[in-house]
Amino acid sequence: MICIRGAVTAEENTRESILENTELLLREIIEKNDIAVEDIVCIDFTATKDLDKAYPAVAARKLGITEAALMCMQEMYVENSLKMCLRVGLFAENGKKQSSAKHIYLKGAQVLRPDIAVIDAVAIDGPAGSGKSTVAKAIAKALGYVYVDTGAMYRTIGLDCSENGIDCRDEKAVSQKAESTDIELKFENGLQKIYLNKKDVTEKIRTQECAENASLVARYPYVREKLASLQRKIAEDTQVVMDGRDIGTNILPGAKTKIYLDASSEVRAKRRVGELKDKGIEADFSQILARVIQRDEQDKNREHNPLTVAKDAHVIDTSNMSVDEVREKILAIVRGE
Ligand code: DC
Repeated sequence: MICIRGAVTAEENTRESILENTELLLREIIEKNDIAVEDIVCIDFTATKDLDKAYPAVAARKLGITEAALMCMQEMYVENSLKMCLRVGLFAENGKKQSSAKHIYLKGAQVLRPDIAVIDAVAIDGPAGSGKSTVAKAIAKALGYVYVDTGAMYRTIGLDCSENGIDCRDEKAVSQKAESTDIELKFENGLQKIYLNKKDVTEKIRTQECAENASLVARYPYVREKLASLQRKIAEDTQVVMDGRDIGTNILPGAKTKIYLDASSEVRAKRRVGELKDKGIEADFSQILARVIQRDEQDKNREHNPLTVAKDAHVIDTSNMSVDEVREKILAIVRGE
């Protein structure tokens, strides 16, 4: 007897989405484990509370699974657990050893139980200007991990909207656009390049306008869910240092190391003025400070996955620290010192 575990996330709480995703998961389990339908003895299905429009077991009929005992149960709720997740435990009598079982996790569904799953990743969250990207790049280099900048993905959706005349305050229009936005990440020497509809926009998204549009579109659940599954998928396949606003709390709640970087708004505004100066752009400190405060407001007070400190995060105030000092401090945490 062999038991295969599997999980998948559904796009929406509809009968169609539940059954389509369950079928996809069952097909993958059967194919990857070389199981004949008639050898299946029993399948336990679970669904998270937010999926209640169909019994997932119905999908088994389509695959001709008629003899097996089928059970559907509601998944226990665990804080920060994945949303809209379907799981199965499939038991088959195919003469193979349990050690050969290939468990299947699709669409970013590998961490339903963040309380027991640990991912070899470093999650770095914090407000704009706290030094996340500089430090995250340095940490990734030191560890040989891939650096993933999730803010760039929100910036890219914002760019796509503004280039197509869509108001980033219009949730419906942004969500519709985001549905067809083709975002691709490529990693070269551990660094990320981002492509919008096959065009490299890595540099183009670094403007103040893109940052503000990113913060606006990041409020919408459709946008967040689309990007969340992309982000989880990357961390599934690679060891990452991922930075953003909700990495430790929502995207990778099972990350081995969680860091929350902070700095006073004045220090962060000063850093921004310095960056602009380096690019030959004169900027007014009080104007920049007002924008920093406004973006904080928006990122911390939005309804979906706001910027908050994960319970198990190490908080580092970088106001009076150099990049090297922050880097060393985080590396010491990673090493468990
Ligand atoms: O880190 P950044 O400045 O590139 O991010 C731009 C905006 O994107 C930020 O103001 C909020 C949003 N964002 C988010 O909501 N969640 C993330 N994980 C990353 C960024």
